[in-house]
Amino acid sequence: MKKIEKRMNLIKVNGFTKDEEKQYDCPVCKDLEYIIQGNVARDCKCKEAKNYKRILDKSGITKAFMKKRLSNFNTNAKPKVIIKAKKMAEDYVENYNNLQNEKHNSIAFLGQVGSGKTHLSIAIGNELMKQNIAVLYMQYREAIIALKQNIMDEAYYQKEIAKYKNAKVLLIDDLYKGKISATDNNIMFEIINYRYLKGAPIIISSEYTTEQLLSFDEAIGSRIIEMCRGRIIEFDGIKLNHRLAL
Ligand SMILES: Nc1ncnc2c1ncn2[C@@H]1O[C@H](COP(=O)(O)OP(=O)(O)OP(=O)(O)O)[C@@H](O)[C@H]1O
Ligand SMILES: [Mg+2]
Ligand SMILES: [Zn+2]
Repeated sequence: MKKIEKRMNLIKVNGFTKDEEKQYDCPVCKDLEYIIQGNVARDCKCKEAKNYKRILDKSGITKAFMKKRLSNFNTNAKPKVIIKAKKMAEDYVENYNNLQNEKHNSIAFLGQVGSGKTHLSIAIGNELMKQNIAVLYMQYREAIIALKQNIMDEAYYQKEIAKYKNAKVLLIDDLYKGKISATDNNIMFEIINYRYLKGAPIIISSEYTTEQLLSFDEAIGSRIIEMCRGRIIEFDGIKLNHRLAL
């Protein structure tokens, strides 16, 4: 009997037992993410971090990609266009909220293979997520194949494509990689046009130039160009391939 009482005393802390305490990620709010103070509920300190984690988990950005930051995008002794691209990425992150009142609220990195297009796109995504802005990563080729495979299953297809239409920010990596069919264009038109009409931002990386994007499909290309107006970088020349840099 005494033994049990002693144990009870040991584990009773702040009205709940240590065993119970262990079950919560945040013992302060017991994972409610808010605390009642008087008559008002206030957000617990853990809420922001948990929001961030939720956004990160849903983003589709892999652990390796999470390491692509603006801070580790090197511009030392790099050509002017690389410096300009980084500056554009930094400005975009800084002004993201203001830009959302405008039609031109997107950004594109185009051209030369290995020039850092994906790195900069993901780095922007990572910075936005830190501000609790949800970003969805769409690896173009994989996503388009998956959508096409399910095109006959109307309900599933609509659910899948809705993710890309409705994401707060959509990061399209390697747009038009691989052969382009009429179906690919139809799918992309559905996504791009929906976001265009809604004023929902996109971050785009593609090895093609604006001219090529227009030549593949003018309806899609011209919408992208309009959404990204003032924020399109075209990398040109093999010298910009970071993979080949010494
Ligand atoms: N300025 C830079 N500083 C540091 N790392 C860089 C820089 N530019 C590119 N890299 C790195 O070089 C590799 C290639 O860059 P990235 O994948 O972003 O190129 P890309 O333009 O998207 O190429 P691709 O057209 O093949 O998709 C990545 O590992 C990236 O992190
Ligand atoms: Mg890339
Ligand atoms: Zn908490």
